Amino acid sequence: MRIVMIGSGYVGLVSGACLAALGHDVVCVDKSRDKIEALQAGNVPIYEPGLEMIIADNCAAGRLRFSGDLVRPVAAADAVFIAVGTPSRLVDGHADLSHVYAAAREIAAAATGFTVVVTKSTVPVGTGDELERIFREEFPQKDIAVVSNPEFLREGAAISDFRRPDRIVVGSDDERSTDVMRNVYEALNLKETPLYFCERRTAELIKYASNAFLAMKITFINEMADLCEELGADVQKVAKGMGMDRRIGDKFLQAGPGFGGSCFPKDTLALVKTAQDYDRPLKLIETTVAINENRKRAMGRRVIAACDGSVRGKRIGVLGLTFKPNTDDMREAPSIAIVRTLLDGGADVHVYDPAGMEAARAVLGAVKYRRNAYEVAEGAEAIVLVTEWDQFKSLDLARLKQVMKSPIVIDLRNVFDEDEMTRHGFSLVPMGKRP
Ligand code: UGA
Repeated sequence: MRIVMIGSGYVGLVSGACLAALGHDVVCVDKSRDKIEALQAGNVPIYEPGLEMIIADNCAAGRLRFSGDLVRPVAAADAVFIAVGTPSRLVDGHADLSHVYAAAREIAAAATGFTVVVTKSTVPVGTGDELERIFREEFPQKDIAVVSNPEFLREGAAISDFRRPDRIVVGSDDERSTDVMRNVYEALNLKETPLYFCERRTAELIKYASNAFLAMKITFINEMADLCEELGADVQKVAKGMGMDRRIGDKFLQAGPGFGGSCFPKDTLALVKTAQDYDRPLKLIETTVAINENRKRAMGRRVIAACDGSVRGKRIGVLGLTFKPNTDDMREAPSIAIVRTLLDGGADVHVYDPAGMEAARAVLGAVKYRRNAYEVAEGAEAIVLVTEWDQFKSLDLARLKQVMKSPIVIDLRNVFDEDEMTRHGFSLVPMGKRP
Protein backbone atom coordinates (compact mmCIF):
# COMPACT_ATOMS: atom_id res chain seq x y z
CA MET A 1 0.00 0.00 0.00
CA ARG A 2 1.04 3.59 -0.48
CA ILE A 3 1.02 5.34 2.86
CA VAL A 4 1.79 8.93 3.85
CA MET A 5 2.57 9.89 7.42
CA ILE A 6 1.94 13.56 8.17
CA GLY A 7 4.14 14.65 11.08
CA SER A 8 7.56 13.08 11.60
CA GLY A 9 7.66 13.46 15.36
CA TYR A 10 7.82 10.55 17.72
CA VAL A 11 4.63 8.71 16.74
CA GLY A 12 4.92 9.55 13.03
CA LEU A 13 8.51 8.41 12.66
CA VAL A 14 8.13 5.19 14.60
CA SER A 15 4.85 4.27 12.88
CA GLY A 16 6.09 5.31 9.43
CA ALA A 17 9.30 3.32 9.73
CA CYS A 18 7.53 0.26 11.12
CA LEU A 19 4.84 0.39 8.40
CA ALA A 20 7.61 0.50 5.79
CA ALA A 21 9.16 -2.53 7.50
CA LEU A 22 5.84 -4.33 6.94
CA GLY A 23 6.43 -3.85 3.21
CA HIS A 24 4.42 -0.70 2.50
CA ASP A 25 5.65 2.24 0.49
CA VAL A 26 5.82 5.06 3.07
CA VAL A 27 6.54 8.78 2.80
CA CYS A 28 7.01 10.65 6.10
CA VAL A 29 6.20 14.34 5.76
CA ASP A 30 7.04 17.20 8.09
CA LYS A 31 6.82 21.00 7.91
CA SER A 32 10.24 21.38 9.51
CA ARG A 33 12.81 21.60 6.73
CA ASP A 34 15.64 20.96 9.19
CA LYS A 35 14.01 17.75 10.37
CA ILE A 36 13.41 16.44 6.86
CA GLU A 37 16.94 17.32 5.73
CA ALA A 38 18.37 15.59 8.79
CA LEU A 39 16.29 12.47 8.12
CA GLN A 40 17.23 12.47 4.44
CA ALA A 41 20.87 12.61 5.52
CA GLY A 42 20.32 9.60 7.78
CA ASN A 43 20.17 11.46 11.10
CA VAL A 44 17.29 10.44 13.35
CA PRO A 45 16.27 13.39 15.53
CA ILE A 46 14.74 11.35 18.37
CA TYR A 47 16.19 8.77 20.71
CA GLU A 48 14.43 5.44 20.41
CA PRO A 49 16.28 2.11 20.65
CA GLY A 50 16.26 0.27 17.30
CA LEU A 51 14.65 3.05 15.27
CA GLU A 52 17.75 4.27 13.47
CA MET A 53 18.42 0.81 12.07
CA ILE A 54 14.85 0.32 10.83
CA ILE A 55 14.90 3.72 9.14
CA ALA A 56 18.25 3.01 7.49
CA ASP A 57 17.21 -0.46 6.28
CA ASN A 58 13.89 0.68 4.84
CA CYS A 59 15.35 3.78 3.20
CA ALA A 60 17.97 1.57 1.58
CA ALA A 61 15.23 -0.78 0.38
CA GLY A 62 13.44 2.21 -1.19
CA ARG A 63 10.30 1.74 0.91
CA LEU A 64 10.74 4.77 3.17
CA ARG A 65 11.23 8.37 2.10
CA PHE A 66 11.05 11.80 3.72
CA SER A 67 9.53 14.90 2.22
CA GLY A 68 8.75 18.48 3.17
CA ASP A 69 5.87 18.57 0.75
CA LEU A 70 2.75 16.45 1.00
CA VAL A 71 1.07 17.19 -2.34
CA ARG A 72 2.63 14.52 -4.56
CA PRO A 73 2.78 11.69 -2.05
CA VAL A 74 -0.80 12.34 -0.86
CA ALA A 75 -2.12 12.35 -4.43
CA ALA A 76 -0.76 8.82 -4.84
CA ALA A 77 -1.67 7.51 -1.38
CA ASP A 78 -4.18 4.85 -0.31
CA ALA A 79 -4.00 5.95 3.31
CA VAL A 80 -2.77 9.18 4.90
CA PHE A 81 -2.03 9.07 8.61
CA ILE A 82 -2.16 12.26 10.66
CA ALA A 83 0.47 12.08 13.42
CA VAL A 84 0.94 15.74 14.28
CA GLY A 85 1.12 17.09 17.82
CA THR A 86 -1.99 17.77 19.94
CA PRO A 87 -0.52 19.67 22.90
CA SER A 88 -2.60 20.96 25.82
CA ARG A 89 -3.92 24.45 25.18
CA LEU A 90 -2.46 26.72 27.84
CA VAL A 91 -5.74 28.56 28.34
CA ASP A 92 -8.00 25.63 29.18
CA GLY A 93 -6.17 22.28 29.05
CA HIS A 94 -8.11 21.08 26.01
CA ALA A 95 -6.13 19.40 23.23
CA ASP A 96 -5.03 21.93 20.63
CA LEU A 97 -6.22 20.58 17.28
CA SER A 98 -5.05 23.40 15.03
CA HIS A 99 -2.26 21.27 13.51
CA VAL A 100 -4.67 18.38 12.89
CA TYR A 101 -7.20 20.54 11.04
CA ALA A 102 -4.53 22.35 9.05
CA ALA A 103 -3.03 19.02 7.95
CA ALA A 104 -6.48 17.65 7.09
CA ARG A 105 -7.27 20.57 4.78
CA GLU A 106 -3.94 20.21 2.99
CA ILE A 107 -4.49 16.48 2.61
CA ALA A 108 -7.98 16.97 1.20
CA ALA A 109 -6.76 19.53 -1.30
CA ALA A 110 -4.10 17.10 -2.56
CA ALA A 111 -6.05 13.81 -2.45
CA THR A 112 -7.04 12.01 -5.65
CA GLY A 113 -9.20 8.88 -5.84
CA PHE A 114 -10.46 7.11 -2.74
CA THR A 115 -8.25 8.15 0.21
CA VAL A 116 -8.47 7.02 3.82
CA VAL A 117 -7.44 9.70 6.31
CA VAL A 118 -6.37 8.08 9.56
CA THR A 119 -5.96 9.95 12.85
CA LYS A 120 -3.00 8.55 14.80
CA SER A 121 -2.59 11.67 16.91
CA THR A 122 -4.49 11.46 20.19
CA VAL A 123 -7.59 13.49 19.43
CA PRO A 124 -10.71 14.21 21.50
CA VAL A 125 -13.84 12.22 20.80
CA GLY A 126 -15.70 13.75 17.87
CA THR A 127 -12.60 14.96 16.01
CA GLY A 128 -13.16 12.34 13.30
CA ASP A 129 -16.72 13.65 12.84
CA GLU A 130 -15.41 17.19 12.52
CA LEU A 131 -12.85 16.09 9.93
CA GLU A 132 -15.59 14.35 8.00
CA ARG A 133 -17.67 17.54 8.09
CA ILE A 134 -14.74 19.62 6.83
CA PHE A 135 -14.14 17.18 3.95
CA ARG A 136 -17.83 17.00 3.06
CA GLU A 137 -18.50 20.74 3.17
CA GLU A 138 -15.21 22.19 1.95
CA PHE A 139 -14.12 19.44 -0.46
CA PRO A 140 -17.41 17.93 -1.69
CA GLN A 141 -15.83 16.51 -4.86
CA LYS A 142 -13.27 14.41 -2.93
CA ASP A 143 -13.73 10.76 -1.97
CA ILE A 144 -12.30 10.63 1.56
CA ALA A 145 -13.08 8.36 4.52
CA VAL A 146 -11.98 9.16 8.08
CA VAL A 147 -10.68 6.46 10.40
CA SER A 148 -9.40 6.57 13.99
CA ASN A 149 -6.39 4.34 14.67
CA PRO A 150 -5.00 5.41 18.06
CA GLU A 151 -1.43 4.68 19.01
CA PHE A 152 -0.43 2.73 22.11
CA LEU A 153 3.37 2.89 21.75
CA ARG A 154 5.51 3.50 24.81
CA GLU A 155 8.62 5.59 24.41
CA GLY A 156 11.72 3.48 24.79
CA ALA A 157 9.84 0.32 23.80
CA ALA A 158 8.06 1.65 20.73
CA ILE A 159 9.47 -0.74 18.14
CA SER A 160 8.49 -3.89 20.00
CA ASP A 161 5.15 -2.32 20.94
CA PHE A 162 4.49 -1.73 17.22
CA ARG A 163 5.52 -5.24 16.22
CA ARG A 164 3.78 -7.08 19.03
CA PRO A 165 0.89 -4.91 20.16
CA ASP A 166 -1.77 -6.21 22.54
CA ARG A 167 -4.34 -4.89 20.08
CA ILE A 168 -4.79 -2.58 17.13
CA VAL A 169 -7.87 -0.41 17.48
CA VAL A 170 -9.55 0.79 14.31
CA GLY A 171 -12.56 3.06 14.48
CA SER A 172 -14.25 3.14 11.14
CA ASP A 173 -17.81 3.77 10.10
CA ASP A 174 -17.64 2.34 6.57
CA GLU A 175 -16.67 -0.90 4.85
CA ARG A 176 -14.21 0.46 2.28
CA SER A 177 -11.93 2.05 4.86
CA THR A 178 -12.16 -1.05 7.04
CA ASP A 179 -10.71 -3.06 4.13
CA VAL A 180 -7.89 -0.57 3.63
CA MET A 181 -6.99 -0.73 7.34
CA ARG A 182 -7.04 -4.52 7.29
CA ASN A 183 -4.54 -4.39 4.41
CA VAL A 184 -2.34 -1.90 6.27
CA TYR A 185 -1.87 -4.29 9.19
CA GLU A 186 -2.15 -7.59 7.35
CA ALA A 187 1.58 -8.27 7.47
CA LEU A 188 1.60 -8.21 11.28
CA ASN A 189 0.77 -11.57 12.72
CA LEU A 190 -2.93 -10.94 13.09
CA LYS A 191 -3.47 -14.29 14.77
CA GLU A 192 -1.61 -12.96 17.78
CA THR A 193 -2.65 -9.34 17.40
CA PRO A 194 -6.36 -8.70 17.54
CA LEU A 195 -7.46 -6.10 15.06
CA TYR A 196 -10.32 -4.57 16.95
CA PHE A 197 -12.84 -2.75 14.80
CA CYS A 198 -15.35 -0.38 16.38
CA GLU A 199 -17.10 2.91 15.70
CA ARG A 200 -14.85 5.92 15.28
CA ARG A 201 -15.99 7.73 18.44
CA THR A 202 -15.46 4.57 20.46
CA ALA A 203 -11.90 4.20 19.13
CA GLU A 204 -11.11 7.81 20.01
CA LEU A 205 -12.31 7.23 23.56
CA ILE A 206 -10.46 3.90 23.94
CA LYS A 207 -7.19 5.81 23.64
CA TYR A 208 -8.05 8.33 26.38
CA ALA A 209 -9.67 5.74 28.61
CA SER A 210 -6.62 3.47 28.36
CA ASN A 211 -4.13 6.20 29.24
CA ALA A 212 -6.36 7.48 32.05
CA PHE A 213 -6.73 3.98 33.48
CA LEU A 214 -2.97 3.37 33.41
CA ALA A 215 -2.32 6.76 35.01
CA MET A 216 -4.85 5.87 37.70
CA LYS A 217 -3.20 2.49 38.27
CA ILE A 218 0.18 4.15 38.81
CA THR A 219 -1.35 6.74 41.11
CA PHE A 220 -3.07 4.01 43.08
CA ILE A 221 0.18 2.17 43.77
CA ASN A 222 1.94 5.46 44.57
CA GLU A 223 -0.62 6.18 47.29
CA MET A 224 -0.26 2.59 48.53
CA ALA A 225 3.50 3.18 48.71
CA ASP A 226 2.98 6.11 51.07
CA LEU A 227 0.65 4.02 53.21
CA CYS A 228 3.10 1.10 53.23
CA GLU A 229 5.75 3.37 54.72
CA GLU A 230 3.40 4.21 57.61
CA LEU A 231 2.20 0.66 58.13
CA GLY A 232 5.51 -1.13 57.76
CA ALA A 233 4.48 -3.03 54.61
CA ASP A 234 6.50 -3.37 51.38
CA VAL A 235 4.86 -1.83 48.30
CA GLN A 236 6.77 -4.01 45.81
CA LYS A 237 5.46 -7.11 47.51
CA VAL A 238 1.97 -5.64 47.77
CA ALA A 239 2.11 -4.96 44.01
CA LYS A 240 3.37 -8.46 43.30
CA GLY A 241 0.69 -10.05 45.42
CA MET A 242 -2.02 -7.94 43.82
CA GLY A 243 -0.68 -8.49 40.31
CA MET A 244 -0.91 -12.26 40.60
CA ASP A 245 -4.65 -11.78 40.31
CA ARG A 246 -5.06 -11.71 36.54
CA ARG A 247 -8.02 -9.40 36.86
CA ILE A 248 -5.60 -6.81 38.23
CA GLY A 249 -2.40 -7.72 36.36
CA ASP A 250 1.14 -6.96 37.48
CA LYS A 251 1.98 -4.21 34.95
CA PHE A 252 2.06 -0.50 35.82
CA LEU A 253 2.18 -1.15 39.54
CA GLN A 254 5.69 0.18 40.01
CA ALA A 255 5.59 2.93 42.64
CA GLY A 256 7.66 6.00 41.86
CA PRO A 257 7.82 9.79 41.79
CA GLY A 258 4.63 10.17 39.73
CA PHE A 259 3.92 9.74 36.04
CA GLY A 260 5.31 12.17 33.48
CA GLY A 261 5.90 12.26 29.76
CA SER A 262 4.13 13.70 26.77
CA CYS A 263 1.02 11.52 27.07
CA PHE A 264 -0.41 10.71 30.50
CA PRO A 265 -0.39 14.28 31.91
CA LYS A 266 -1.78 15.80 28.69
CA ASP A 267 -4.33 13.08 27.96
CA THR A 268 -5.71 12.81 31.50
CA LEU A 269 -6.19 16.57 31.58
CA ALA A 270 -7.89 16.63 28.16
CA LEU A 271 -10.24 13.80 29.18
CA VAL A 272 -11.12 15.59 32.40
CA LYS A 273 -11.95 18.74 30.41
CA THR A 274 -14.07 16.87 27.88
CA ALA A 275 -16.02 15.13 30.62
CA GLN A 276 -16.63 18.43 32.44
CA ASP A 277 -17.88 20.00 29.20
CA TYR A 278 -20.48 17.24 28.94
CA ASP A 279 -21.44 17.55 32.62
CA ARG A 280 -20.17 14.04 33.28
CA PRO A 281 -17.13 14.82 35.46
CA LEU A 282 -14.65 11.97 35.87
CA LYS A 283 -13.88 12.35 39.56
CA LEU A 284 -11.40 9.46 39.62
CA ILE A 285 -9.30 11.01 36.87
CA GLU A 286 -9.58 14.53 38.29
CA THR A 287 -8.20 13.19 41.55
CA THR A 288 -5.50 11.22 39.74
CA VAL A 289 -4.30 14.39 38.02
CA ALA A 290 -4.25 16.34 41.30
CA ILE A 291 -2.48 13.62 43.30
CA ASN A 292 0.17 13.22 40.63
CA GLU A 293 0.89 16.95 40.47
CA ASN A 294 1.35 17.14 44.24
CA ARG A 295 3.48 14.04 44.30
CA LYS A 296 6.26 15.46 42.14
CA ARG A 297 7.02 18.31 44.55
CA ALA A 298 6.46 16.00 47.51
CA MET A 299 9.38 13.94 46.19
CA GLY A 300 11.60 17.01 46.50
CA ARG A 301 10.43 17.43 50.09
CA ARG A 302 11.20 13.77 50.67
CA VAL A 303 14.82 14.44 49.78
CA ILE A 304 14.89 17.45 52.10
CA ALA A 305 13.45 15.35 54.92
CA ALA A 306 16.14 12.72 54.38
CA CYS A 307 18.73 15.48 54.79
CA ASP A 308 17.52 16.30 58.32
CA GLY A 309 15.00 18.83 57.10
CA SER A 310 17.29 21.20 55.22
CA VAL A 311 19.33 21.18 52.01
CA ARG A 312 20.48 24.79 52.29
CA GLY A 313 24.07 25.02 51.08
CA LYS A 314 24.24 21.23 50.67
CA ARG A 315 25.34 19.51 47.50
CA ILE A 316 22.61 17.14 46.30
CA GLY A 317 23.08 14.76 43.37
CA VAL A 318 20.26 13.78 41.01
CA LEU A 319 20.55 10.58 38.97
CA GLY A 320 18.22 10.35 35.98
CA LEU A 321 16.22 13.28 34.63
CA THR A 322 14.07 12.01 31.75
CA PHE A 323 10.48 11.00 32.55
CA LYS A 324 11.49 7.35 32.10
CA PRO A 325 14.55 5.42 30.90
CA ASN A 326 15.56 4.86 27.26
CA THR A 327 14.36 8.23 26.06
CA ASP A 328 15.76 11.76 25.94
CA ASP A 329 12.31 13.18 26.66
CA MET A 330 12.03 15.64 29.55
CA ARG A 331 8.39 16.57 29.05
CA GLU A 332 6.55 16.67 32.40
CA ALA A 333 9.41 14.71 33.96
CA PRO A 334 9.09 14.45 37.77
CA SER A 335 12.77 15.50 37.97
CA ILE A 336 11.76 19.06 37.01
CA ALA A 337 9.60 19.62 40.10
CA ILE A 338 12.07 17.73 42.31
CA VAL A 339 15.03 19.83 41.18
CA ARG A 340 13.00 23.04 41.60
CA THR A 341 12.03 22.10 45.13
CA LEU A 342 15.68 21.41 45.96
CA LEU A 343 16.81 24.70 44.40
CA ASP A 344 14.08 26.55 46.29
CA GLY A 345 15.42 24.93 49.45
CA GLY A 346 18.87 26.39 48.73
CA ALA A 347 20.60 23.19 47.55
CA ASP A 348 23.58 23.04 45.21
CA VAL A 349 22.15 20.56 42.70
CA HIS A 350 24.35 18.37 40.49
CA VAL A 351 22.63 16.25 37.84
CA TYR A 352 23.31 13.52 35.32
CA ASP A 353 21.20 11.67 32.78
CA PRO A 354 22.43 9.22 30.12
CA ALA A 355 20.37 10.80 27.30
CA GLY A 356 18.39 13.77 28.58
CA MET A 357 21.10 16.34 29.36
CA GLU A 358 20.45 18.50 26.33
CA ALA A 359 16.70 18.62 26.85
CA ALA A 360 17.25 19.15 30.59
CA ARG A 361 19.27 22.33 30.00
CA ALA A 362 16.18 23.99 28.59
CA VAL A 363 14.03 23.32 31.66
CA LEU A 364 16.10 22.80 34.79
CA GLY A 365 17.75 26.15 35.43
CA ALA A 366 20.64 26.71 37.82
CA VAL A 367 22.00 23.21 38.28
CA LYS A 368 25.40 21.74 37.46
CA TYR A 369 25.59 19.18 34.68
CA ARG A 370 27.99 16.33 35.34
CA ARG A 371 29.28 13.59 33.06
CA ASN A 372 28.38 10.48 35.05
CA ALA A 373 26.94 9.17 38.29
CA TYR A 374 30.26 9.30 40.15
CA GLU A 375 30.76 12.98 39.33
CA VAL A 376 27.24 13.63 40.58
CA ALA A 377 28.06 11.82 43.82
CA GLU A 378 31.32 13.71 44.41
CA GLY A 379 31.02 15.68 47.64
CA ALA A 380 27.26 15.09 47.72
CA GLU A 381 25.43 14.99 51.03
CA ALA A 382 22.70 12.94 49.40
CA ILE A 383 21.83 11.55 45.99
CA VAL A 384 18.33 10.95 44.70
CA LEU A 385 17.64 8.43 41.97
CA VAL A 386 14.73 9.73 39.90
CA THR A 387 14.84 7.68 36.66
CA GLU A 388 15.68 3.98 36.62
CA TRP A 389 18.22 3.81 33.77
CA ASP A 390 19.89 0.39 33.57
CA GLN A 391 23.36 1.86 34.06
CA PHE A 392 22.38 3.00 37.58
CA LYS A 393 21.59 -0.61 38.49
CA SER A 394 25.20 -1.66 38.08
CA LEU A 395 27.05 1.23 39.73
CA ASP A 396 30.25 0.51 41.64
CA LEU A 397 28.78 1.12 45.09
CA ALA A 398 32.13 1.18 46.89
CA ARG A 399 33.33 3.94 44.55
CA LEU A 400 30.06 5.83 44.91
CA LYS A 401 30.26 5.73 48.70
CA GLN A 402 33.88 6.79 48.70
CA VAL A 403 33.27 10.03 46.80
CA MET A 404 30.14 11.10 48.71
CA LYS A 405 30.33 13.45 51.66
CA SER A 406 27.53 11.66 53.44
CA PRO A 407 26.13 8.39 52.07
CA ILE A 408 22.39 9.13 51.91
CA VAL A 409 20.59 7.66 48.90
CA ILE A 410 16.93 8.40 48.20
CA ASP A 411 15.80 5.76 45.74
CA LEU A 412 12.50 6.84 44.16
CA ARG A 413 12.34 3.74 41.92
CA ASN A 414 13.53 0.95 44.21
CA VAL A 415 16.50 0.24 41.97
CA PHE A 416 19.02 -0.44 44.72
CA ASP A 417 19.14 -3.64 46.74
CA GLU A 418 18.68 -2.78 50.39
CA ASP A 419 21.04 -5.43 51.82
CA GLU A 420 23.81 -4.52 49.41
CA MET A 421 23.42 -0.83 50.17
CA THR A 422 23.56 -1.49 53.90
CA ARG A 423 26.66 -3.65 53.41
CA HIS A 424 28.34 -0.76 51.63
CA GLY A 425 27.42 1.60 54.45
CA PHE A 426 24.74 3.64 52.70
CA SER A 427 21.74 5.07 54.41
CA LEU A 428 19.02 4.13 51.91
CA VAL A 429 15.54 5.65 51.72
CA PRO A 430 13.54 3.25 49.54
CA MET A 431 10.10 3.85 48.03
CA GLY A 432 7.05 2.40 49.75
CA LYS A 433 8.77 0.55 52.58
CA ARG A 434 10.60 1.45 55.74
CA PRO A 435 14.39 1.81 55.44
C1 UGA B 1 2.13 5.91 27.48
C2 UGA B 1 1.36 4.60 27.34
O1 UGA B 1 1.97 3.59 28.15
C3 UGA B 1 1.34 4.14 25.88
O2 UGA B 1 0.52 2.98 25.76
C4 UGA B 1 0.74 5.27 25.03
O3 UGA B 1 0.76 4.94 23.66
C5 UGA B 1 1.55 6.53 25.22
O4 UGA B 1 1.54 6.89 26.61
C6 UGA B 1 0.90 7.60 24.39
O5 UGA B 1 -0.25 7.97 24.69
O6 UGA B 1 1.46 7.99 23.36
P1 UGA B 1 4.74 6.59 27.61
O7 UGA B 1 4.24 7.93 28.06
O8 UGA B 1 5.76 6.50 26.54
O9 UGA B 1 3.49 5.68 27.12
O10 UGA B 1 5.40 5.87 28.86
P2 UGA B 1 4.94 4.85 30.00
O11 UGA B 1 5.85 3.69 29.97
O12 UGA B 1 3.51 4.58 29.95
O13 UGA B 1 5.30 5.70 31.30
C7 UGA B 1 4.60 6.90 31.63
C8 UGA B 1 4.99 7.37 33.01
O14 UGA B 1 4.48 6.51 34.01
C9 UGA B 1 6.49 7.45 33.25
O15 UGA B 1 6.80 8.64 33.94
C10 UGA B 1 6.79 6.23 34.10
O16 UGA B 1 7.91 6.38 34.93
C11 UGA B 1 5.51 6.13 34.91
N1 UGA B 1 5.26 4.76 35.40
C12 UGA B 1 4.93 3.76 34.54
C13 UGA B 1 5.33 4.51 36.76
O17 UGA B 1 5.63 5.40 37.59
N2 UGA B 1 5.06 3.24 37.20
C14 UGA B 1 4.74 2.23 36.38
O18 UGA B 1 4.49 1.10 36.87
C15 UGA B 1 4.67 2.50 35.01
